[in-house]
Amino acid sequence: TVLVVDFGAQYAQLIARRVRECHVFSEIVPSTMSAEEMLAKKPKAIILSGGPASVYEEGAPVASDGLFDTGVPTLGICYGHQVMAQALGGTVANSEVAEYGGAEIALATPGLLLEGLPERQKVWMSHRDYVSAAPEGFTVTASTDVTPVAGMEDRERGLYGVQFHPEVLHTEHGMEVLRRFLYEGAGCRPGWTMVNIAEESIEEVRRQVGTKRAICALSGGVDSAVAGALVQRAIGSQLTCVFVDHGLLRKGEAEQVEKDFVAATGVNLHVVDAQERFLTALDGVTDPETKRKIIGREFIRVFEEAAREVVGTSDGEVEFLVQGTLYPDVVESGGGTGAANIKSHHNVGGLPEDLQFTLVEPLRTLFKDEVRALGEQLGLPAEIVWRQPFPGPGLGIRIIGAVTRERLDILREADAIAREELTRAGLDREIWQFPVVLLADVRSVGVQGDGRTYGHPVVLRPVTSEDAMTADWARLPYDVLSKISTRITNEVREINRVVVDITSKPPGTIEWE
Ligand code: XMP
Repeated sequence: TVLVVDFGAQYAQLIARRVRECHVFSEIVPSTMSAEEMLAKKPKAIILSGGPASVYEEGAPVASDGLFDTGVPTLGICYGHQVMAQALGGTVANSEVAEYGGAEIALATPGLLLEGLPERQKVWMSHRDYVSAAPEGFTVTASTDVTPVAGMEDRERGLYGVQFHPEVLHTEHGMEVLRRFLYEGAGCRPGWTMVNIAEESIEEVRRQVGTKRAICALSGGVDSAVAGALVQRAIGSQLTCVFVDHGLLRKGEAEQVEKDFVAATGVNLHVVDAQERFLTALDGVTDPETKRKIIGREFIRVFEEAAREVVGTSDGEVEFLVQGTLYPDVVESGGGTGAANIKSHHNVGGLPEDLQFTLVEPLRTLFKDEVRALGEQLGLPAEIVWRQPFPGPGLGIRIIGAVTRERLDILREADAIAREELTRAGLDREIWQFPVVLLADVRSVGVQGDGRTYGHPVVLRPVTSEDAMTADWARLPYDVLSKISTRITNEVREINRVVVDITSKPPGTIEWE
């Protein structure tokens, strides 16, 4: 494993992902972890991430004692580079001029990381402090106009530092620099591949579950589908997947779970048709948070009943519950146990602890893109693997006003058209999410054929985003928008107006409710 020491502000996650793109397993650890604890993980290499602090600030994170004496090849990036320099007797200075964004480095003595690369190359910088003198024993490998020590190395001790961000795509040769550090500097082998990940995870699940039984709640989303498929490979018919059809999914999605997923995996599926129950519970409710609470509550009740039924009819003991927890959730919640519950308030798939199951979380070490690749490896259909994020409460929070069966059907049709046209335009992977929102309580006058209509507007809300924390409205091509608008107003009788939401997040959120 490669340890990525997190000095804050999520830089570490990107580095960890890039290391894995080099087919080397990586793990994020807090900067407060002691050198002994790190060594206990038997790392092949350590990378110190960037971070927002200045080494001179009070309380700024520091390298743990002895970190640079472990003998493990270590690369410091940005703040990590400065921490390394300062700890080993170099100097870090504060510059009047910050360097943010694109910069150009010039090679001095190229050294291991930069050897053979162009004399001048574009890199991504984001700093004010800089290393003004490298520690003794280090050679300076690169500089910019503003930064005298943009790169430094002490090959004998296996210590490397770069001021720029090799993990950012704007750094021309960034991946090359990382690869050199990992393969040549640290002797890592590119063994972390999807085939290995799948095999190892399957083995691991087998060990954990043994001959006992497990259940898994499928939501229609990527994570639970991949987790379910993987556990199915591991323990076959000892697994039962439960799918609660709450009637708030998009067109074709329930069938995707009930037919395509089952066909691809051969899983035992227990479907609960709870559409009526959810509609009744949501009757007349317009407040978004109340809708969420009701949907969450009903989901848990229905799932519990289903779980009891599965338990009742199975011969072995059902002891395990499969969850699709991903690595970012684990990291963001401090990596401790119980991490699975952190986001449950935001996720209808979140289940109460008193269900008395032991969790099986086969995706706990994986990033989203790896989960998708794993899903492909496991033979899941592309529509499931590449599905965009979709909120647990589903279309329930995309109908502004009370939820009724009729309104759901209208929205499902409009939404299906928008998705179809987006796919046809080849934009699925560029667009993070594309909510279509029915303004059910708003009516607008239109003219269709020769007659006056009094229908409803729908809002198109295509957004681009990295992580849903912030988002920008997507500039969909006019012809795509036009096609969607024409088709929706022609094909969905109740809708006579299509509008586009051009609000970023913040101040807007992605969903309307
Ligand atoms: P907002 O609307 O807050 O959404 O910008 C951010 C991301 O979260 C999704 N979302 C939800 N997911 N339960 C969920 O599982 C919810 O109640 C919920 N509300 C919003 C939203 O689709 C976006 O990806």
